[in-house]
Amino acid sequence: MYKALYRAYRPEVFEQLLGQDHVKKILKNQLKADTISHAYLFCGTRGTGKTTTARLLAKGLNCLSEGDKPCGQCSNCQAISNGTFIDVVEIDAASNRGIDQVKELRESINYPPFTGSKKVYIIDEVHMLTPEAFNALLKTLEEPPHYVVFILATTEPQKLPATILSRCVHLDFRRVPERIIAEGMKNICGELGIEVTESALRIIAANADGSVRDGLSILDQCVTGSRGKVDTAEVLEYLGASGEEAMLELTDMVIRGRTADAIGCISNLLESGREAKQLMNDWIQHYRNLLMARFIRDPQEVINLSVENIDRIREQAQMMEPEEISRGIMELSKTLNEAKWSPKPRILLELCVVNLSNRGDLTKAMPAMKKIEPKTKAEVKKEAESPAAEGPAEDVFTETEAGAVEDEPAPKGEEGHDLLTLWDQVFNDGSASKGSMYLIRSNSMLSSMDESSFTVTVSGDMNRRHLENNRKLIEDLMEGRTGSRRHMKIEMNEGAPEEVSVEEAAAQAASLIGIPVDIE
Ligand SMILES: Nc1ncnc2c1ncn2[C@@H]1O[C@H](COP(=O)(O)OP(=O)(O)OP(=O)(O)O)[C@@H](O)[C@H]1O
Ligand SMILES: [Mg+2]
Ligand SMILES: [Zn+2]
Repeated sequence: MYKALYRAYRPEVFEQLLGQDHVKKILKNQLKADTISHAYLFCGTRGTGKTTTARLLAKGLNCLSEGDKPCGQCSNCQAISNGTFIDVVEIDAASNRGIDQVKELRESINYPPFTGSKKVYIIDEVHMLTPEAFNALLKTLEEPPHYVVFILATTEPQKLPATILSRCVHLDFRRVPERIIAEGMKNICGELGIEVTESALRIIAANADGSVRDGLSILDQCVTGSRGKVDTAEVLEYLGASGEEAMLELTDMVIRGRTADAIGCISNLLESGREAKQLMNDWIQHYRNLLMARFIRDPQEVINLSVENIDRIREQAQMMEPEEISRGIMELSKTLNEAKWSPKPRILLELCVVNLSNRGDLTKAMPAMKKIEPKTKAEVKKEAESPAAEGPAEDVFTETEAGAVEDEPAPKGEEGHDLLTLWDQVFNDGSASKGSMYLIRSNSMLSSMDESSFTVTVSGDMNRRHLENNRKLIEDLMEGRTGSRRHMKIEMNEGAPEEVSVEEAAAQAASLIGIPVDIE
């Protein structure tokens, strides 16, 4: 039978546990010095190794090896891995809220270990216990026999009664850094003979958002779907631009006024199985994160994402006006509210995209939207005769296979390249090397090109620096697209930014999302 990678692969010794260095250190020392406490609480994000570590500790306490414990090899270690070791009891509080099991526990706890040296009770998802079960547990936690060790694990410690919290040694499981997840997956792939490129692993790690299990799960799906070596293209195809990446992209499209691309992106997301209302929720969450990143000095306190993703959000937030962020939150909330009653939430979402990407100015959006609709020859002719007589087209939002919808004809370079398209292609080519490339794409325009050079117009000093730092890459990518080497010239766009009241935007947004907003 096929077993998911994250089940098939579970660390057997502390060295295999990725990240969580502080936890490893404490537990290894306590095992060595024989100073183990009688109750632990493992808390933290899902998929970061809580259950795994609970089993490692249970093994360490019962390991027969003379050397480092757990050894992962002796009969006790192996029995614990297989779940056949009588003195290690795992209780899943989520399954039936633990009532019967806690009762059983209270009885069995009075018998000393059968084969091992410690009796270990692992209570997973402990926040799910019923109040009765908590009470029963509390009694045993107060004065457990010397041969008993409790390991409670939860993603939601705030749901635990203080009486329980105060009786345990707390260990926090943190999101594992991308680099460590990528390296870990590389080793696992090596062991299992899975072929995958390093850049593919990097993208998987970025989308795991700090959870090793999520990383392994994405890897697993990509391997299953691939014929041979897993590469970047396959990973991106599998991810179908999901998760944080999709929200960054989508937001990027609307702030650059790329209405048709944004509607296309929505269409892809919905086709890959997302639900329109869920998408709205995710997107509001993303805007909320942008707001936090914009106004709060240490957004990691309030944004529940990996450090790397928070950095990406911060970059995006920095290139947006506060007013733009608050408009996003408000438009989306309004849309979500209306969508609750609508049988066609998708249309509302598409309307919202049009609104956002045209900064609420629909008169500006109209000519662009007109072009989305396929026209008959007669219509085209009629339009040519009287270009001003146009009414808004209905149903236009449901048409998603839109072509380019630039308001003005795209500028052309001397060799007849469509500069807008060319610039987009260059960044698509370079999109694997995310980070600052992503920023550059959002803030720059290819404004002209001749035989020996091309000029990029950019706004903001930081963006100019990003552009300069990536000069070689961009010149390479341009060469790849046009076939000849050109020097990049950088030109600053001096357009004055729109006037906005930061305080006002913050106050509005704060009242909307119910969190006080600090202004730096
Ligand atoms: N820190 C880690 N190092 C190595 N592998 C890990 C780590 N964290 C999770 N994994 C992988 O993910 C799987 C699930 O991990 P585990 O059950 O320990 O997570 P958890 O923190 O208990 O998650 P949950 O909160 O959902 O119960 C493991 O079998 C292993 O393959
Ligand atoms: Mg667990
Ligand atoms: Zn052992």
